[in-house]
Amino acid sequence: MDLRNAKVLVTGGSSGIGYATARTLLEAGAQVAITGRDETKLHAAAKALKALPIRADVSDPRDVQRMVEETAKAFGAMNVLINNAGIGSFAPLVDLDLADFRRVMDTNVFGAMLAGQAAARHFISAGQGGNIVNIASTAAQRGFANGTAYTASKFALAAMTECWRAELRAHGIRVMQVNPSEVVTEFQSRMGRQQVVNETKLRAQEIAHAIKAMLAMDDRGFIPELTVWATNPK
Ligand SMILES: NC(=O)c1ccc[n+]([C@@H]2O[C@H](COP(=O)([O-])OP(=O)(O)OC[C@H]3O[C@@H](n4cnc5c(N)ncnc54)[C@H](OP(=O)(O)O)[C@@H]3O)[C@@H](O)[C@H]2O)c1
Repeated sequence: MDLRNAKVLVTGGSSGIGYATARTLLEAGAQVAITGRDETKLHAAAKALKALPIRADVSDPRDVQRMVEETAKAFGAMNVLINNAGIGSFAPLVDLDLADFRRVMDTNVFGAMLAGQAAARHFISAGQGGNIVNIASTAAQRGFANGTAYTASKFALAAMTECWRAELRAHGIRVMQVNPSEVVTEFQSRMGRQQVVNETKLRAQEIAHAIKAMLAMDDRGFIPELTVWATNPK
């Protein structure tokens, strides 16, 4: 697609990968709305980016419906969903807390489904095709110790991506999945974990670069899945 015609909704655009993606797409000439739950943070991010802020929790069906409607109304249409909002929780199986597992699934799986559903309904009724980019993870490709909740959520997102692709291609909707490896963002500090930060680690802009490249391909083709690794992380 020509990114100057992109009318984009980025869930979780107030920080990290979503923020960098919003900035990269705005620089390419797209119109971009960003969402998040923390209103202060969202408005600060939107002001810095010159993006449209929409306070919305993806796990709330009313918020999800409203965020798609507000994006389409502000831009005259919506043709890209970056399905990015996500959280983590890591614990060994023997200590895993069911409420934490449910919280992760509420955002990463049910929230992603609600956002994908609202976007797909909008794209189908507009009849102009569309793009859904699901931000999964290398945790959607293999399990690891302490990863039960997070990997389960990302494997589920990968499964939904395949189903949506099968359903939506006939409507000219490209459903794509991006699997970042570890990226330096606030993701880990939100869980009280200290991330090792150095110049060898992936930055959010590497993921934004990949997303921009996927979207920029002519609509007749699409990249179903793309994985980004750091070259030599220390
Ligand atoms: N960082 C990594 O190493 C890494 C690697 C692979 C995949 N990913 C994935 O990349 C995505 C973005 O992560 P990130 O690293 O950029 O994390 P981040 O810096 O913590 O950003 C997460 C964003 O999502 C928003 N968010 C969280 N829960 C939400 C909800 N229920 N509804 C709406 N917005 C919500 C946050 O804002 P509020 O808190 O204000 O709502 C924030 O804007 C996630 O899906 C994550 O699983 C990250």
